[in-house]
Amino acid sequence: MGESRIRIGLLGYGTVGSAFVDLLESQKSTILSRTGLELVVTHIAVSDLNKDRPGLDTQTVLTDKPSEVIENNEVDLVVELMGGLLPARDLVKAALEKNKPVITANKELLSKEGKYLFMLAGERNVDLLFEAAVAGGIPLIRVLRESLLGEPVEKIMGIVNGTTNYILSQMEENGMPYSEALLEAQKLGYAESDPTADVSGQDAASKAAIIAMVAFGADVSLDDVLFEGIQNISSADVAFASRAGCAIKLLAMISKHGHELEVQVYPALLPNSHPLSSVRDSFNAVFVEGTAVDSLMLFGRGAGGMPTASAVLGDVIDAALNLSNKTYRGMEDLKEVSLLPSGEQKSAYYVSVQVVDEPGVLATVALVFAKSDISIQTMEQEGMGREAHLVFITHEVEESRLEDALSQLSNLSCVEKLGTVIRVLEA
Ligand code: NDP
Ligand code: HSE
Repeated sequence: MGESRIRIGLLGYGTVGSAFVDLLESQKSTILSRTGLELVVTHIAVSDLNKDRPGLDTQTVLTDKPSEVIENNEVDLVVELMGGLLPARDLVKAALEKNKPVITANKELLSKEGKYLFMLAGERNVDLLFEAAVAGGIPLIRVLRESLLGEPVEKIMGIVNGTTNYILSQMEENGMPYSEALLEAQKLGYAESDPTADVSGQDAASKAAIIAMVAFGADVSLDDVLFEGIQNISSADVAFASRAGCAIKLLAMISKHGHELEVQVYPALLPNSHPLSSVRDSFNAVFVEGTAVDSLMLFGRGAGGMPTASAVLGDVIDAALNLSNKTYRGMEDLKEVSLLPSGEQKSAYYVSVQVVDEPGVLATVALVFAKSDISIQTMEQEGMGREAHLVFITHEVEESRLEDALSQLSNLSCVEKLGTVIRVLEA
């Protein structure tokens, strides 16, 4: 096997970037003997040159000018691990325009500018690979683009955010308050630089858009994805779900409904018998349903330096091999699709309502559900006085009809506050 030396320019040396350099260093000789490729990180761009970077090879050029890394003729391939839309977009564009393959873990960038960047990579005949952008260390993108290329995929449902899954697991298993669990997730390197992206559901929504592009060839961007997060989920909601034999999970749902595609992110109560409900900690899992394959599930660490670096390294080896073989793997042209309008889906719901604890209140609240033709599966009262909560699980109802009932409930004088409203899914 002939040997070829590929020089890598790395943009970003944070949680993932530094893990990538360490992983590559430890695997260098194995990669060389398996592929004939000598992979060397020659240049690294960071924002703060004064930060201590213990262990970094002194021969690597460190700069705070990422464009110089792209322009440098001694850089063959670019790995973007800075995150954020700008300047990442301009740097990735500049690298592709110089016919340099790009590997990125940046879901925000791809969910906003993916269509344009994939087209540019295609025009330049170079790779733009992004395994690490969805579900961290799980090789989901490769499975969708290669193994399932001919599969009539019907539905993909996944836990694709490690931070929120970690928070929900800590709340459920250890009774940890939400804010403390979020701080832990940040310390462990799971969260985005602004963790609002995680807890609001936006990070998972970016991943849902990318999954829709890859699995359905759909021209879907972050703006098209309806998303809800976990900021309003309380310890009481998690405890109720647990008593009801369920776990609360933040789900990305990408699903065909006739000619329409549903692309949404929302928290849901999942019965313990559902395989996704046992996915804890920073693990992610993605459930794929196809007409031929039936069901399959991919499981692994969805966040963290090393698991994500593993996905980045796989892409780097792929792109480096393609570069030395003068080939690349393009994305298909993305097609316009009709998205399922909000409000039309049916689901059972968990509804928590803070009420005044007085005679007749339950009947008044129940009457609103009855008049809206919403049938109740179970009801529980928690607490007393001004802290009384009524917790309902409804039978299936259209989202728009439930919203109408909720607005009526919020106008009742006996209702202090509407609490959490969460979908309840079947096993
Ligand atoms: P970090 O915040 O830990 O690291 C970002 C790195 O980029 C830092 O080295 C920073 O420099 C550098 N940087 C930021 N802005 C600039 C700039 N303008 N010019 C030069 N360098 C810059 O992020 P992560 O490693 O956590 O994430 C990187 C990417 O990977 C993101 O797109 C993220 O969404 C994605 N990702 C992250 C995962 C995770 O678990 N953390 C998992 C999957 C994907 P400095 O060191 O000086 O601050
Ligand atoms: N912040 C992201 C998460 C990183 O928690 O899943 C992985 O994409």
